[in-house]
Amino acid sequence: MTSSDRLYQPGDIILSADEIARVVARLGREITADYDGKNPVLVNLLKGGVVFLADLIRQLPIPHQIDFLSVSSYENGTNSSGSVRIVEDLSTNIAGRNVLIVEDVLDTGRTLAYILNMLEIRSPGSLEVCALLRKKSPKQAGIRVKYVGKEIPDVFVVGYGLDFNEKFRNLPYIAKFVTPE
Ligand code: IMP
Ligand code: MG
Repeated sequence: MTSSDRLYQPGDIILSADEIARVVARLGREITADYDGKNPVLVNLLKGGVVFLADLIRQLPIPHQIDFLSVSSYENGTNSSGSVRIVEDLSTNIAGRNVLIVEDVLDTGRTLAYILNMLEIRSPGSLEVCALLRKKSPKQAGIRVKYVGKEIPDVFVVGYGLDFNEKFRNLPYIAKFVTPE
C-alpha cells in the first residue's frame, strides 16, 4: 500500500452505514415473509456481494442455506464487458429448491442475465433476485428483480463489498468513486 492509497478519499456518500443497515433490515423482513418454511438457498455472487450477504442472513430468522458462485465478467476498470466465465460453481444441487440470488449491484444486468439462464436449466423450484443496489442505467437488460435495496444514479460506486480494482471493499458505507487526481 502506498501512502496515497491510505489518503484516498472516495466521493459523495450514496448510502451511509446507517442507511445500509435500515435497507438490509427491510429486505430481511420482506424475504422472511416470503420464504418462511421454504428453506431457500441464497446464492451469493462473489466477491462484491459477500458483505451484503453476511449482513442479510443475520436479518433472516428462518432456516436457509447459503452458497457461492464465482464468476468473472471480464471487467477492466469500471466497465463490464458482458462475457461471463464461471470461476467456481455452486456446491448445492438446486433442482426443486427455492433459489434467491443475492447481488451487490445491478448495472447493465448482463452478468445476472447470464447466471439466471444458467441456473434456470438446473430446474430450481423458484428463482428470484435480491439486489442491494440497482442503477438507473439506460443499458439495463430487462431483468426481474424481486427485492431491490435502493435505486442509485448511474455512477460507479465503491464500498460495502464493492471494489474498484479490488480496493475499497472495506468501506462501511457506499460512495461514488472518483478518480484520484
Ligand atoms: P452488470 O453485468 O453490468 O450488471 O455488472 C456486473 C458486476 O459489475 C456487478 O455485479 C458488480 O460486481 C460490478 N459492478 C457494476 N457496477 C459497479 C459499481 O458501480 N461498482 C463496483 N462494481 C460494480
Ligand atoms: Mg457483483
